[in-house]
Amino acid sequence: MTPGARVAAAIEVLDSYLSGTPVEQALTGWARGHRFAGSKDRAAIRDHVFDAVRRLSSSQALGGGTDGRAVMLGLLRGQGLDPAELFTGEGHAPAVLNDVETVISTEMTRAQSLDCPDWLMPAFDESLGKDTDAVLDSLRHRAPVFVRVNLARCDRDDAAAILAEDGVETKPSKLAVTALEVLINPRKIKNSRAFLEGFVELQDAASQAVIESLSIQPGMRVLDYCAGGGGKALAMAAQGADVTAHDLSWERMKDIPLRAERACVSIKRVRHGNLKELGGFDLVLADAPCSGSGSWRRAPHGKWLLNAEKLAKIHAAQMDILSAMPAFLNAGGRMAYATCSVLRSENRDQVQRFLDNHPDFQLTTEHQFTPLDGGDGFYLAQMSGK
Ligand SMILES: C[S@@+](CC[C@H](N)C(=O)[O-])C[C@H]1O[C@@H](n2cnc3c(N)ncnc32)[C@H](O)[C@@H]1O
Repeated sequence: MTPGARVAAAIEVLDSYLSGTPVEQALTGWARGHRFAGSKDRAAIRDHVFDAVRRLSSSQALGGGTDGRAVMLGLLRGQGLDPAELFTGEGHAPAVLNDVETVISTEMTRAQSLDCPDWLMPAFDESLGKDTDAVLDSLRHRAPVFVRVNLARCDRDDAAAILAEDGVETKPSKLAVTALEVLINPRKIKNSRAFLEGFVELQDAASQAVIESLSIQPGMRVLDYCAGGGGKALAMAAQGADVTAHDLSWERMKDIPLRAERACVSIKRVRHGNLKELGGFDLVLADAPCSGSGSWRRAPHGKWLLNAEKLAKIHAAQMDILSAMPAFLNAGGRMAYATCSVLRSENRDQVQRFLDNHPDFQLTTEHQFTPLDGGDGFYLAQMSGK
């Protein structure tokens, strides 16, 4: 496909997304109907679409409309490119710009130019202060790719060398001793020997830094209360913790046994209903459901789906989780509450509310990572009994 044809394809996918189809489904639907498109074409179209969703409001403003064509037009302008070079009407490229489309509007609100939903702007300002604009701008860019080195199998230099055998070039990340930032060929990771044989896992560097902050000791009994697919459970097991994974949804934990086997670690899983029988953990971690605002570079559709009602439900779920955690601690045990959000209402405010309701607990450490640190935005608070 020509570059212009790829833009035309992205316009089609964006129209489907803008009419309510989830973005992954819109991409898959397009690929099914266009089997001639090769993997490089599909990857390029995906990149256009995700770039556009990250910059949806600024692209709509710069493109002078709200449909897929206007968005792609505005995206290219926002990237400093001349859309006329791709909107040529030749072959499968989008039609030539009309008179209205050639007039460039540069008037934007602050929220539009930062691609932040209007209603969330005050929450970002309140949460991030002087860093707000820089953090929101970082969420308009592609995220770096990181792998976590499985220290149960090898050290960071060995992992880098094994990845390099498959053409995946990396450099150590400052965020965590286990983290390698992928510089070349991120799409080759999943088929690389390093990944298939459990030397590395894909995991954001801030997520790894969160685990590093937990000071896991071999043999420590840990409950991963919101284990999901097990990213953090695997990281803790690799450090020798005796990990029990729990999640409200058993289905979400279905890949944990396979991932654990690949990593040569063992993780027990417990169903939600059976959790009451357990207790006496040295550490209970809740990587709680959240807005995902710290990872909107990776999942940009999340920011446009969130609304005040959904955020209120997330807040309620977070409080329920925080309130449930103390029951599983042993005497002297620690609680760790994490989110991949940068919003204070999901982080410090929730922890403060928990502490207000549990005067027998104290905050021991608290840290807010933002994309300005290099990885995703992540919050971690640790609490223990007084
Ligand atoms: C942010 S994800 C966890 C990601 C995971 N820790 C990882 O590193 O891959 C949050 C998880 O919390 C789960 N969850 C939501 N409400 C819950 C609850 N009340 N109790 C336990 N888990 C819950 C969700 O099913 C989801 O898998």
